[in-house]
This record gives sequence, structure tokens and C-alpha cells, in this order.
Amino acid sequence: MDSIIVRGGRQLTGEVSVGGAKNSALKLMAAALLAPATSHIDGVPDIADVDTMAEVLGYLGVRVSRQGQRLSIDASRLTGCEAPYEMVAKMRASIAVLGPLVARFGRARVAMPGGCAIGSRKIDMHIRGLEHLGAKVTLGHGSLDAVAPEGGLVGAEVTLEFPSVGATENLVMAATLARGRTVIDNVAREPEIIDLVRFLRSMGAQIEGEGTSALSIVGVRELHAAKHRVVGDRIEAGTYLVAGALGLGPVTVSGFDPAHLDLVIAKLREVGCTIEVAGDSATVSFDGRPRPVDIQTLPHPGFPTDMQAQFMTLMSVAGGGSIITENVFENRFMFAGELARMGADIRIEGHHALVKGVTHLSGAPVRSTDLRGGAALVLAGLIAQGETTVRDVHHIDRGYECFADKLAALGADIERVSCT
Ligand code: UD1
Repeated sequence: MDSIIVRGGRQLTGEVSVGGAKNSALKLMAAALLAPATSHIDGVPDIADVDTMAEVLGYLGVRVSRQGQRLSIDASRLTGCEAPYEMVAKMRASIAVLGPLVARFGRARVAMPGGCAIGSRKIDMHIRGLEHLGAKVTLGHGSLDAVAPEGGLVGAEVTLEFPSVGATENLVMAATLARGRTVIDNVAREPEIIDLVRFLRSMGAQIEGEGTSALSIVGVRELHAAKHRVVGDRIEAGTYLVAGALGLGPVTVSGFDPAHLDLVIAKLREVGCTIEVAGDSATVSFDGRPRPVDIQTLPHPGFPTDMQAQFMTLMSVAGGGSIITENVFENRFMFAGELARMGADIRIEGHHALVKGVTHLSGAPVRSTDLRGGAALVLAGLIAQGETTVRDVHHIDRGYECFADKLAALGADIERVSCT
């Protein structure tokens, strides 16, 4: 298991560019299953979750090859329609193959994902949505079996109880090959959903409404291969903006659309940062102590839950108290206990975290509890006095390419070590 060792107190300056969005790339890979051909996806980050999705696709008989940042996905001959437990347990996003498999093959078996480090994360909306499209879904022995009716899925009207990212994606992919029109209401509006819809459209799907709260899809008989570039990773970008704020900057983060981070940028300005936005980049600089700012996570365009942990690190050294409210996941404060080991003053009350800013953090051995929590602990190490060792770095590897190297290039005193 590798660790990241950070010695705090260095000023960060320079430029860092982000890769394609993890949360888009994984779904684009699943969407490639819909066409009996070879699709090419550019700008795919070299991260562990992409490897896991490639394994899932390989298990189904799909050939996935990487040349630099391009993935070529040949889904012309499939040999199976099952995503087994070992893979789904490793990465919940494996569930994204469900919709494409039922749509193209008329059946799918996907292991039930179960809970994870940030909450119980049910998939009831995925299931109910597919049932609306005519699929018969049964659960047993830890797996979910979905079977389309004779002749394939049938278009229908579906209203989601909550704008779930995963359910929206599964249902829109399933509906592309269903007979007739499907209208999905109360859908998620994340930039990664818009990216998925654009990819599906380039494959020949007929979809309207991306970025609004309803998607209308008219099913087609077959989709064809397409080429697409993954949208820039707004969460990776946001993480480096917080790093830049903690390290005073100026730090320029490029390779993403700053409009996708509107609220995060607005909150950083409230904290006292100067942020200049130009084209596909944003530059942060900061001087002084962060002002306390309350945040509450919400579906896009609200404040992203995937930036909550990084923001808590920033608030842990603010000049006053702030309230962080997590509305998307029920249990996403796990890492706060580790941050407290570094001297942060945090009280958790249900889905609120009451953070009383302290003057400094102190370096300590800590453990990544999940992807974003792990990144937030490394950020804390950047400003802590002394040395911080962040263990269980495999969580961070799931979503950040060369995290330690990129921070080192900005001037951080950071290294990755292998522990045997
Ligand atoms: C995706 C992102 C994740 C991000 C999240 C919210 C990927 C790989 N992951 O996760 O990084 O934090 O969106 O922006 O893209 N829910 C149900 N029933 C369902 C589906 C969801 O109750 O059928 C609940 C979940 O338990 C959770 C909430 O809805 O509390 C949001 O989940 P969802 O939007 O589906 O997130 P994911 O797609 O899992």
C-alpha cells in the first residue's frame, strides 16, 4: 500500500492542467457497449477507475486498448452480459453497464453494489426506471437480473424521485435503443451528463434536453461507432484551486470549463481568494486567512458533493466557524475524523459539520477513507506544520492522475512512497 508524505508550509505557484473527467469517461466507456463497432474516446485519464471499467468491459468480451490518452473500445463481439461482484464491489460505477446491456442484448446481470464509504447508495431508481421501460427486474443471490420484453425495451415516461446522476445515465443509455419516445423527468444536469448525451448523439441517438431537467429520447434501431473527447474534470480542477488557495498561489488550473465550477469559484471568492477566469482556465491567488463560509451540497448546479471534503480542509483553518451541510450522501464526513487528528475542530451533527477554524494544523499520520476525503487530507498536509503521511492512497488513485507529482510541480514538498 502506497502513502503520500507531505511537509507543509510551501507556497504553491505555477500551472497545472487537468485530465478528462473521471465521472464522464467511465460512462462513455459503458455507452460504447451500445454500438457493434469500435468507438474512440480521447482525453481518458490514466486512473484506477478507468482500468476497472476496462476490466468490466473485457469480462463482457469487449476489446479495450489504450494509445496515450485515447481508448479504443471494440464492442462488436460480446460474449457475456454480466458484471460480477468482484468488479462492482471495487467500483460502483460498474453499474453503468446495466442500461446499455439490457438495451442492446435484452438482458443483463449486475452484482448489487451494496453500500460504500460514503453511504448506502441505493439503486432503486435505476431499477424502477428500467421497469418503466418494460424490463423485468429480479433480485437474488446478490445480483440483479434485468430482462427486456420480446422485441426490446419500450419508450415510457419516467420521473426520478431525485436527480440521480447514475440513474439518469443508465436510463438515457437504455432509452436510446427502446421502441418509441422516452421522457425522463427530474434528471441530473451535471456537465458529465451533457457529455454523455453528446457522445450518444454522435453515435446516432436522438436525444434532446441535456442540461435541463427533462430528457426526451426517441429510440433508434442501432447505434454506430463514434469519436469523442471527454469533458475536462471540474472536480480535479476544483481540488487544485483549493490547493492553490491553501498554497497562496498564484496557481493556474487549465483544461476545464470554469462555468462548470461556478459555485465553487463563487465560494472561493467569498473565502477571500482572487480568481481570474480566462478561457479554459482559472487562476487563484490568496493572501491572508480564509474567511468562514457556509456551504451545502446539492445536485448540479448546486455546490458539488465531490468538492465538500476539500472545502472542509480550507474551512478548518478559517478565521471563524462555518457550517458544511451534506445533502447528497448520508455519510460523507468519514474523513473529518482524520482531519481532526491533524488538529481540526469539527463537530458532526447529522448531515451538518460544524467547523471551527483553528490557527494551524499539525502534520500526522492519517488514512484516506475515500477518494475525495483522501485528496482533502493531502491538501491539509500542504498547510500543516511538520510532516503528514496519508495512507491508503489507492483511494486517491481511483480519480486523480499523478496527484503527488502535479502538486510537487507546483512547489509542494511531497513524495509518494511504497510501503511493503
Ligand atoms: C455520481 C458520481 C459521484 C458524485 C455523485 C453526485 C460517478 C461515477 N459518481 O455518483 O462522484 O458524488 O454522482 O454528484 O459519476 N440514490 C438513491 N437511489 C438510486 C440512485 C441514487 O437513493 O437509485 C441516492 C444515493 O444513495 C445518493 C444520491 O441519490 O444519496 C445521489 O446519488 P447519484 O446522483 O446517483 O450518485 P452516483 O451516480 O452514485
